[in-house]
This record gives sequence, structure tokens and C-alpha cells, in this order.
Amino acid sequence: MSDPTGNGTAGAADPADVVEQLGRIGVVPVAEIPDGEAAASLAEALLGAGIPCVEITFRTAAAADAIAAIRKSHPEMLVGAGTVLTADQAAIARDAGAQFVVTPGFGPAVVARCQAGGLPIIPGACTPTEIQMALDAGITVVKFFPAEAAGGVRYLRALGGPFKGIRFVPTGGIDASNLADYLAVPGVLACGGSWFVRKEWLVGRDFASVTAAAAAAAAIVAAARAGAA
Ligand code: 3PG
Repeated sequence: MSDPTGNGTAGAADPADVVEQLGRIGVVPVAEIPDGEAAASLAEALLGAGIPCVEITFRTAAAADAIAAIRKSHPEMLVGAGTVLTADQAAIARDAGAQFVVTPGFGPAVVARCQAGGLPIIPGACTPTEIQMALDAGITVVKFFPAEAAGGVRYLRALGGPFKGIRFVPTGGIDASNLADYLAVPGVLACGGSWFVRKEWLVGRDFASVTAAAAAAAAIVAAARAGAA
């Protein structure tokens, strides 16, 4: 495939490496980026807070451009594509340089396209049936979405009972007030959310607020990990 980054960093990432990195970082910024020009500044703001990853959602037309821009400007960032709903979007994300894909639910066509292209995928799953669908597809890391609305920490703990080998990325309704509670649930790899990359900050170019909120999130992760060690 082509190398949209121009620096030789495009291409499929190793799924185990993506999982390891997300687990180490502990939070996944879910960013709805208004335009490609905000991309490099967003990356800068997150790196300044010690968070070298971002999930750019396909909820705006700027998603692919933003992914390519960050891969080029900040190759040290792990860049994912989020809210990928179709197999075509998965292909566009891959061509833009996305290193992983996140979907809100379990879409067999999207999963198949990602796997065919060697692109790590974290599909949404919030019921035992959806988790079994993921397992059938050889996937052991799922996005637990929408986390708070689906039943929150209590429900996630119950799901973890039969699915010991599954790693969860709870997302949806998580913020600084409940992040530590989710990180304490066995099986949680990292928590996703938009609370520290709020759309209005990106639109208003308020990257100082991004860095401040992201640093607060990183501090909660560090405290949780220190407590668990
Ligand atoms: C997502 O797309 O992953 C969610 O909309 C993020 O949820 P949040 O905005 O409640 O953090």
C-alpha cells in the first residue's frame, strides 16, 4: 500500500503491540476532529500530557486527513480510526495510516475487512452474545460501549465473570469522576472517552484545555496502576 506518512511508518501494526501500547497508556482519547488543520495541534497537546495515542472518529469528513496528518507530523503517536461503520471506511482508514480501528458495535463486514488487511480491530461489544461473536472472529479485545448507559462498572464486572480472557476498553460516559472505578475492574485494558478532547475545545483551538484535562486523566491512570501494583 501507499505510505501516506511519507516517513515509512505506514502499514499494518502488530495487534499485540497495539494492545500493549493501549494498556500502558490506559486511556484512549476519542476525538471528533473538526478539520485536518487541528490534527497536529491535538497530537501535540496529548503528547504534552503524556498520552501518545488518539482515536480519530469517522464522524467528521476530516477523519482520514487528520489521521494521515498526525502519522506524518507525530510518528511517535499511535493513531486509530474510530466510529468505523463500513468496510469501505475501514479501507480508507488503513490507507490514511490508521494503526487500529474501533467500532461501536460488532460489524462482521468491518471486522473481516480489517482482518484481511492486517489492521487491528477493537469492535464494540456490550452483551455476552457480542463478546462471543468477537471470540468467534479471533478477537479478544473489545470496546465495552456504551459503558455507563449499558450498566457501568457493575455490569462490566458481571460480564468479566465468564469471559476471563477478554480485555475490555470501556467507553461512553467515562470522565475523570469514574475513570478510576473502571480501571479497577479486572480485564480492563484502557478506558476511552471524549471528556479530555472535547469537541468544542478542538473547534475553538483550545489545546491548553486538552492538555490540562489529558494530564489529569494520565494522573488518574498512574495512581490506579500504582495502587494495583
Ligand atoms: C465513542 O464514540 O467512543 C463515544 O461516543 C465516546 O463516548 P463519550 O463521548 O461519552 O466519552
